[in-house]
Amino acid sequence: MLEVKQIAVNYGAAPALWDVSITCGDTELVSVVGPNGAGKTTLINAVAGLHSVKSGALRFGGQDITRLASHRFCEAGIAIVPEGRRLFTQMTVLENLELGSFIASAKARRAERLEQVLNLFPVLKIKLHSLAGSLSGGQQQMVAIGRALMAGPSLLLLDEPSLGLAPSIVLDMFAAIKQINAQGTAVLLVEQNVAMALETADRAYVMEEGRIVAEGPAREMMDRPEIQKAYLGLEAH
Ligand SMILES: Nc1ncnc2c1ncn2[C@@H]1O[C@H](COP(=O)(O)OP(=O)(O)O)[C@@H](O)[C@H]1O
Ligand SMILES: [Mg+2]
Repeated sequence: MLEVKQIAVNYGAAPALWDVSITCGDTELVSVVGPNGAGKTTLINAVAGLHSVKSGALRFGGQDITRLASHRFCEAGIAIVPEGRRLFTQMTVLENLELGSFIASAKARRAERLEQVLNLFPVLKIKLHSLAGSLSGGQQQMVAIGRALMAGPSLLLLDEPSLGLAPSIVLDMFAAIKQINAQGTAVLLVEQNVAMALETADRAYVMEEGRIVAEGPAREMMDRPEIQKAYLGLEAH
C-alpha cells in the first residue's frame, strides 16, 4: 500500500504541490488526471523518489520512505515509466530492458522477467536487437514499460503512457496496463487523457493547480457533470 500524506513539493521557492494526499492499494489501479501543469509529473516523481518533499510523508509497504535516498526506491519495489519514455535510443531494445534489472535482486531473475515482458509485448521479440530509437512510438512505450517491469516492482508508476500515441495504440497500451495490474502489480498512473484513464482505473483523483480537487471510484467520476464538462468535452444534460 502506497500512502502519500499531505505532501508539499517546491521548485525553488515556487510551490508545485501542496497538501496532496493519495493512496494506492496493493492490487489497485489508480489514476490521477488533470490538465497540463496541474502537478501530475511532480507528484509521480516524488513517489518515485526523484523529488524531495518539503513536508508531509510517503509510506510504502508499511515503511516510511519520505527521506529514503532516490536509488533505494527501486529496491523498495517502486518503478517509474517517466514522461516521454526516456529510452537510450542508441542502445538496443534488449540493452534498454536489461538496464531495468540492475539491482542485485532483479539481476538474478533477469531471464524470467524478460520472458514475462515479451509475453506481455510479443512484438518486442523480433525487435530485441534493434536500436530503441528505430522503433515506433507505441513500441518505444512498450520498451519503457518493460524496462520498469524488469525490476519486478510491486508498484508501477506511469507518467502519461498515452502521450503522442495514435488512438488505436492507446487502447492496446491501456489493455497491457490492465493486464500488468491483473497479474498482481499495483499501478499508479497520471494522465491528461482523462477518458482513457477513468475507463481503465479502479479509483481516480483529479488534480488542479497542485492540489487534489476530487476523488472517487473511476466510474463514478466519469458520470459527474463537472468532470464531463471540464475534461470529457460533454455538456451536462
Ligand atoms: N523543473 C521545474 N522547475 C520549475 N517549475 C517546474 C518544474 N517542473 C514543473 N514545474 C512547474 O510545476 C507545475 C507542475 O508541473 P508538472 O508536474 O510538470 O505538471 P503536469 O505533469 O501535470 O503537466 C507547473 O506549474 C510547472 O510549470
Ligand atoms: Mg506531466
